[in-house]
Amino acid sequence: MYRLGVIPGDGIGPEVLEQALEVLEEASRRHGFAYRVHRFPFGADHYLETGELLSDSDLEEIRNLDALLLGALGDPRLERGLLERGLLGRLHRELDLYVNVRPVKVYSERLCPLRGRGAHEVDLVILRENTEDAYAGLGGFLRKGTPEEVATAESVFTRRGVERVLRHAFEMARSRPRHQLTLVDKSSLIPAHDLWQRAFVEVGREYPDVKTATIDVDAAIAWLVRTPEWFDVIVTTPMLGDVLMALGSQLQGGVGLAASASLNPGQVSLFEPIHGSAPKLAGTGSANPIGAILAVRMMLEELGEETAAACLDSAVRQVLNDPTVFDSSPGAARRTREYGERVLQAIRQSSDSFQEAARS
Ligand code: IPM
Ligand code: MN
Repeated sequence: MYRLGVIPGDGIGPEVLEQALEVLEEASRRHGFAYRVHRFPFGADHYLETGELLSDSDLEEIRNLDALLLGALGDPRLERGLLERGLLGRLHRELDLYVNVRPVKVYSERLCPLRGRGAHEVDLVILRENTEDAYAGLGGFLRKGTPEEVATAESVFTRRGVERVLRHAFEMARSRPRHQLTLVDKSSLIPAHDLWQRAFVEVGREYPDVKTATIDVDAAIAWLVRTPEWFDVIVTTPMLGDVLMALGSQLQGGVGLAASASLNPGQVSLFEPIHGSAPKLAGTGSANPIGAILAVRMMLEELGEETAAACLDSAVRQVLNDPTVFDSSPGAARRTREYGERVLQAIRQSSDSFQEAARS
């Protein structure tokens, strides 16, 4: 029995999670796993009502869960960065969610904005360290608000922090057919990034079967657009990863289709669609729930429900390739519920064959 924490959050978060939870329910029925949902009210409304973002007792409860599923956070009524730092950042640090993983995978060729590129060329995973660098929150102001103001944001890296995320990346590269790992940094300019370079070489000795490369971030951005087929697994720093991942989500078709996992392997981890709360879309029923559904897919994979995860993956592929579902012409936007229902249908049609394949 998995203990699953659900944070619907703000804006379109609750709408997309509703679909994702229906998909989870169907997957559990078909693939024989059970779970219990613990709902948490965190987000803007909860903060405005109670003045609380995340209490210590909530955190204790969360530590005992198997996974957390988040809809979206963000509300224009609140001070910029309050939820990002006080809620999401706090979860990352307190739960030590040290690796952030984002698959960049084109499910349907027409979704990829690169001419002539599709599922074959764009199939990579980006991993970033998730608790250090500027994400550690070190820095501040001197003489704030005066003409002599000084602002600092420290980029910190620890050998231990770098090594554990590198190890995770090597393991992932080993588990994929191409066995290829690229370190992206800016060591040509930033001396501290040399720690990444040395750790990469040293950890790499334990993985002689993984082909490695290192590349500066500016070149990586350029090559991701020109020749995405060069990349298999990418590992990088938190800040550089944040930028690379935003590009990656577009390569696969947009923020509505991308999912993210912030992991502390073996402990409670956090799964979410990468999009924000999109306040303008909230309540219109038109937000795309595919990102949230793919977050469920990542969660199932992490929990060891491989067959269910693969079934979900193929259901999403089927739906995104169905011309009656995905129509990118103006005014043809699909509704949140319709997407969810199509994915459910696809799961119902294919789950038997997945179970057979898993048995044989
Ligand atoms: C992301 C987001 C967050 C991050 C923000 C909202 C703090 O941009 O998931 O990439 O950078 O971690
Ligand atoms: Mn980001």
